Amino acid sequence: MWPGGGSWPTCVGSVTAALLVAAVVLRFFIPSVWSSGNKRQAATAGGTAGARLPDGSLGWPLIGETLAFILSAYSPRPESFVEKRSLLFGKVFKSHLWGSPAVVSSDPEVSRAVLQADASALVPWYPRSLMELMGQSSILVLGGGLQRRVHGLAGAFFKSPQLKAQVTADMQRRVGRAMDAWSRSPESNGRGAPAAVRVQDEAKKIVFEILVRALIGLEEGHEMQYLRQQFQEFIAGLISLPVKLPGTQLYRSLMAKKRMTKLIKKIIQEKRMKRITEGGENLHGTHPRDMIDVLLGNGSDELTDELISDNMIDFMIPAEDSVPVLITLAIKYLSECPPALQQLEEENMELKRWKLGAGEILEWTDYMSLTFTQHVITETLRLGNIINGIMRKAVRDVEVRGHLIPKGWRVLVYFRGVHLDAAVHDDPHTFNPWRWKERADVVMSGGGFTPFGGGQRLCPGLDLARLEASIFLHHMVTNFRWVAEEDTVVNFPTVRLKRGMPIAVTRRT
Ligand code: HEM
Repeated sequence: MWPGGGSWPTCVGSVTAALLVAAVVLRFFIPSVWSSGNKRQAATAGGTAGARLPDGSLGWPLIGETLAFILSAYSPRPESFVEKRSLLFGKVFKSHLWGSPAVVSSDPEVSRAVLQADASALVPWYPRSLMELMGQSSILVLGGGLQRRVHGLAGAFFKSPQLKAQVTADMQRRVGRAMDAWSRSPESNGRGAPAAVRVQDEAKKIVFEILVRALIGLEEGHEMQYLRQQFQEFIAGLISLPVKLPGTQLYRSLMAKKRMTKLIKKIIQEKRMKRITEGGENLHGTHPRDMIDVLLGNGSDELTDELISDNMIDFMIPAEDSVPVLITLAIKYLSECPPALQQLEEENMELKRWKLGAGEILEWTDYMSLTFTQHVITETLRLGNIINGIMRKAVRDVEVRGHLIPKGWRVLVYFRGVHLDAAVHDDPHTFNPWRWKERADVVMSGGGFTPFGGGQRLCPGLDLARLEASIFLHHMVTNFRWVAEEDTVVNFPTVRLKRGMPIAVTRRT
C-alpha cells in the first residue's frame, strides 16, 4: 500500500537532488561498489534451482531507479515507468527502489502468486517513516498466527450483517444530513440554486466518523473532532523523511499518535471495566458493537491494549483515505460518462420507488444487490487504482513462477500495471462499467483485478468499502443532479483529486 500524507512531495525535490549528486560521485569514482553488488546477486541466483533473476537495470548507485519511478508517479501516466521496462525486459523485471534491489511485477499470474506466497518467504515492507508510525504490532506488519487472528476477527466483524446494518443506518443518516446542508448552503439559499460542494471533503467527513464508530464505538461530538484533527496530523507523516527530531513532520505525527493512543486506551479500559462489572459471560451471545469489543471478546493475552489501540489507528487510514477517494473517483468518472450516470440513476431510482411503494426502508442488502452500481464501483477501483501496489520483502531466496527473488530483495506487485494493461482489459484507459457484465470471474480469478490485494492479507474491509460507496452514490443520484468542474487525479504519494472534485449540485424536484 502507499498510504501517506503530504510531506513527501515537498521534501522530495531536495532529497533527490542530494541523492543524485551522491550517485554521480559514486558512479564515476567508485564503480566497483555497484558492480560487485551485481555479482553477489548473480551468485545468489545460482542457489535456487531453476529460478532466474529477472532482467532489468539497478539504475544509479544508492537511488537506483527511485527517482525515475517517482517522476512517472507524478506524471499523468504513472504506469509509464513499468510499461517502458516491461517492453525491454518483460512484465517481471529487476530494479532498485527505495534503497533496495527489487523485482517488479505487472504480470497477473506472478502478482497473484506473490500475494498468495507463504508468509515465511515474503513479508510486508513499508517505508521507514511508515513503519515508525505504525508500530511493530500493526496488522500491516505483523506476521504469523497473530496477524491471522486479527485479520480473521476483523474480516468476520466487517462482513457481519449486524455491522453492515449499523453502517447502513449511520451512513444514511449522515449522508442525508450532509445533503440537506448542501441544499441550505448560502449559494443554494433554499431556493434550489446550485450549491458548490467538494466531494472529496464531504466523503471524508462522512466516512471517517462512521468507520471510527465501527472501530472504537466513539459517537459524534467533541472527542470525535479531536480524534479527527490528531489523525490528520498523524497521516501527514506516513510518507515523510524518517527523521524524528522535534519540528519534523514525523515527530509531529508521532506526537499526534500518542494523543490518539491515550484516548483509545481510555476507551479500551472503560470497556474492560464494563466487561468485568457486567460479567464477561453475560456479554456472550450479544453482538459486538465495535472492533474493540471483538478483540476484547477474543480473550487472548496477546491482544494487549497497545496492540488494539495501534491497530485501531491503522484501520482508520482507509476511513480517511481509500473509501472517500473511491467515492470521489466514482463521481468524477460518472460525470465524464453520461450513459453510465444515466443507467446508474435509473437503477437507483427504480429501487427507491419500489421501496417507497412497499413502505420499506433501504437495507444493506438492497444496496449490494444493485448490479450496475456494483459494476461502476468495480470499474472505479480498476481505473482509479487507489492502492497502486504493495511491497513485500524476501526473507529467504524465493522462487515465484520461475523468477528468483533473492533474500533481502523486495517485490513490488504493481496492481496499476495489471489494471491498465490492454492485454488484460480491453481499452484499459476508458471507464467502461459494462465490461464487468462478462468475463468478470475469469479476470478476477486470474489475478487481473486485485484492488484489495489477495491471499492471507486480502483487505478485510472490502465489502464495507463497496457498501459505503453504494450508499453514497444511491443518495447522490436519487436526490441531486450536478455539474462537475475540471479536476485531475494526483497519483503520488497517495491517489486523490487535486481540487477535491468540485461540483455544483441541485436538488432534484
Ligand atoms: C477502497 C477502499 C479500500 C482499498 C482499495 C483497500 C485496499 C487494501 C489492500 C490492497 C490491502 C492489502 C495490503 C497488503 O497486501 O499488504 C488492504 C489491507 C487491509 N485493509 Fe483495505 N482497502 C480499502 C478499504 C478498507 C476498509 C474500509 C477497511 C476497514 C476498516 C480496510 C482494512 C484493511 C486492513 C485491516 C488491511 C490489512 C490486512 C492484513 O494485512 O491482514 N480496508 N486493503
